[in-house]
Amino acid sequence: MSSEMLKNLDIFVRARYPIIYITTFEEGRADDYLIKIGRSRNKKVISWSQTRGLMPAGTGHQNAKSIAEGSGDPMCALDYVMNSHEPAIFIFHDFHPFLNDSSVIRRLREISIAIKESFKTLVLVSPVLKIPCELEKDINVVDFPMPSLSDMAALLNKMISDISDNRDIKISIADDERELILQALLGLTISEAENVIAKALVKNGALNAASIGVILSEKEQIIRKSNLLEYYNTSENIDDVGGLDSLKHWLNLRKQAFSEKARNFGLPSPRGILMLGVQGCGKSLCAKAVSALWQIPLLRLDMGKIFSSLIGSSEENIRRAVKVAESIAPAILWIDEIDKGFNGMNSGNSDAGTSSRVFGTFLTWMQEKKSPVFVIATANNISLLPPELLRKGRFDEIFFVDLPEAPERAEIFKIHLKKREIPCESFDMKAIVEASEGFSGAEIEQAIIASLFEAFYKNEGLKCEFLLKALEQTVPLSKTMKEEIDSLRSWAASRAVMASRPVDAVEGARPKRRLEF
Ligand SMILES: Nc1ncnc2c1ncn2[C@@H]1O[C@H](COP(=O)(O)OP(=O)(O)OP(=O)(O)O)[C@@H](O)[C@H]1O
Ligand SMILES: [Mg+2]
Repeated sequence: MSSEMLKNLDIFVRARYPIIYITTFEEGRADDYLIKIGRSRNKKVISWSQTRGLMPAGTGHQNAKSIAEGSGDPMCALDYVMNSHEPAIFIFHDFHPFLNDSSVIRRLREISIAIKESFKTLVLVSPVLKIPCELEKDINVVDFPMPSLSDMAALLNKMISDISDNRDIKISIADDERELILQALLGLTISEAENVIAKALVKNGALNAASIGVILSEKEQIIRKSNLLEYYNTSENIDDVGGLDSLKHWLNLRKQAFSEKARNFGLPSPRGILMLGVQGCGKSLCAKAVSALWQIPLLRLDMGKIFSSLIGSSEENIRRAVKVAESIAPAILWIDEIDKGFNGMNSGNSDAGTSSRVFGTFLTWMQEKKSPVFVIATANNISLLPPELLRKGRFDEIFFVDLPEAPERAEIFKIHLKKREIPCESFDMKAIVEASEGFSGAEIEQAIIASLFEAFYKNEGLKCEFLLKALEQTVPLSKTMKEEIDSLRSWAASRAVMASRPVDAVEGARPKRRLEF
């Protein structure tokens, strides 16, 4: 049990906060904390659910009788809370569906005023955070942490002792392996962890070093299922990225930054970078390549899903996502197209409040995070990003990823031709590079694919002329979106580091480089 959490909750109860809201899937664990506090403060702890009504908390028995007739009804239960005189903690499970009802809301407001003078506390425990605006000032939200290493250790000990008389199962774990197993369990809820350990036991008939692999792959599944984060298995390598030398150099310098050695040397963990730039120039590609370069897992955070009401409340979603990322740190948290996520904030529509709260939660976390979670955010549209995000200190660096210059385009061509095992020594690279002026990496790749179609159709090998034709037939985004790209460039000129080699940026225009082949 996290002593800090216990202390926090205890303070809320002693300070007579009338209504506390705990957002968690783990109501059993939340109940345990509250029962402990109730015991130490000599208060009754009574739990409520719609199906069982009011009961002494911790009563597992399905047929146990409710302490108040008809208290499955939310209004009836709230009346009981209002009228009871004993010092007590009332835990209401899954009350969020009733927070639409105006009489329930009103009753809660009255309770919040009335019980300030009493020794009663009302705690709402639910996986969904939902606070009607009438109650915003009356309810205090408590952040409920994921199970800690010591919670996991207690669970593991209990499970080992439960199976100690089973001769078919062998337990042979050295201290360091035990530590690894516990680490691997972080990021899961207690019941998920219990299932994972059980599966490892059943699968191997033992708990040993081999169990770590089983636990990690199960955990990957569970994180996938959570739907907010995606474990990215990257095949991309930093050598697959053409150009962007200064960004690659920055990343290379920090290759060992999360190691024990770096910590002993006194280096802080890098916090994160924002890659801002033109579409299709390799931002997402770089994010994937960093994971391979640094050998740490990549978790992609889906902003769309954070805001999707289908999964839960947006704020809770982002909290849960960063908690999971922290629990498996060192890790990279990749927030692709962050500008799209914060779109709602500037629009002044009904979603603006939620967006700015989600954003606030994220910024606070960025500011305060101690765990080695490296954030890689990418964005195309600077005007959608709130200025607070760009303030110094949030990210280690803001990189501007511009359209590739001639030598970079040559590199990109070579990378993609090589990937497809196409010999290009005989190609007129100078002509190709000139014909692709203003093309992004993605457009270069697409032109290669188009020319391959032609070669395939004609039943020939890829010829330079096919490639030149495909380039000629493409209208690059840099033409259709010239104004947007120019304004992005001039914004970035004074505020961001160029991801390519340093350029003497002039508003809207860049000096031409001499070609070298
Ligand atoms: N610098 C590059 N080197 C090699 N390939 C590149 C480069 N830039 C883009 N590509 C190719 O184009 C594809 C798309 O690029 P990517 O998704 O990284 O662009 P992006 O900058 O994230 O674009 P968007 O802003 O639209 O998300 C890559 O998967 C890669 O195949
Ligand atoms: Mg992208």
